[in-house]
Amino acid sequence: MSPFHLTRTLPEDATGAELRADVLRGLTGTPRTLPPKWFYDARGSRLFDEITTLPEYYPTRAEREILLARAAEIAAAAGARTLVELGSGSSDKTRHLLDAMTSLRGYVPVDVSESALRQAGRALLAERPALDVHAVVADFTAGLTLPASPGPRLVAFLGGTLGNLLPEERGAFLASLRALLEPGDSLLLGTDLVKDERTLVRAYDDAAGVTAEFNKNVLSVINRELGADFDPDAFSHVAVWDRERQWIEMRLRSEVAQTVKIPALDLTLDFAEGEETRTEVSAKFTEERVRGELGAAGLTPVRWWTDGERRFALSLSTVDGPASDDDGRARADG
Ligand code: AVJ
Repeated sequence: MSPFHLTRTLPEDATGAELRADVLRGLTGTPRTLPPKWFYDARGSRLFDEITTLPEYYPTRAEREILLARAAEIAAAAGARTLVELGSGSSDKTRHLLDAMTSLRGYVPVDVSESALRQAGRALLAERPALDVHAVVADFTAGLTLPASPGPRLVAFLGGTLGNLLPEERGAFLASLRALLEPGDSLLLGTDLVKDERTLVRAYDDAAGVTAEFNKNVLSVINRELGADFDPDAFSHVAVWDRERQWIEMRLRSEVAQTVKIPALDLTLDFAEGEETRTEVSAKFTEERVRGELGAAGLTPVRWWTDGERRFALSLSTVDGPASDDDGRARADG
């Protein structure tokens, strides 16, 4: 049985320092913002898992539908010996892909959560004892180094998480991914697609209120980690579609005028009644936009797949230039 390797590229205290910096910058800025990555403590991760099962939240099901239908095609097109997965979490969705990759030798799950990596690694090795699993604890938005692994490599970035970055951040992030890849390697990217406003807003404002709890959870994280005294019940969940910027924005609205103390930052904040703090941007894409952003990062989109209702897309890009017989445009055969 191959041993399970784990590399930690985050210092043990990185999380605390980063949270303090993010909260200070975000809550003293105008308008106030908080980065979405702080939703995901143990409770937030559980709430997110619950969101993925809600009738209104279609992205996870749509992406799984594509992965199930196209795993063999993706595997054949990539021909990879190593699968690198960014934000692997429980590695659940990846199972289809792993099973379809006939030349696969190694799996490199990358996540900020060491416990998620250890758990997923253990489960995977029990099923596939010959697989080399080298987990990497890292924040993949902050410069990533990968362990030596046999090429070609397929880097998978699924779930639509790219949409949680702002447009400038997306460009820098995709360029940093491009820099990790060598000729023959490829990128499998999951992106949620622009659709009618009602469907989009309901996916982020479900009837059972799970997304509202998930949104407010960031306040509990700040209370616990920074000793703050946010009353999550004094804030309400807001989800709006920004038509111009083509993103869903989640916010927390202060229901009353209130003062909040954050001792770890030596900070006292006054929230006006009705004041909103932006907690997440979730961009929705057109095919044209995905192609444009990949191309701008030096990646060449070669395949495009959607679910039956064209709600979500997976794209496959190479760094090499496609084996194209015409004007270099990739095939769109989803
Ligand atoms: C899986 C991180 C992409 O933006 O749709 C779900 C997170 N936020 N409901 C998304 C999320 C609110 C999700 N991502």
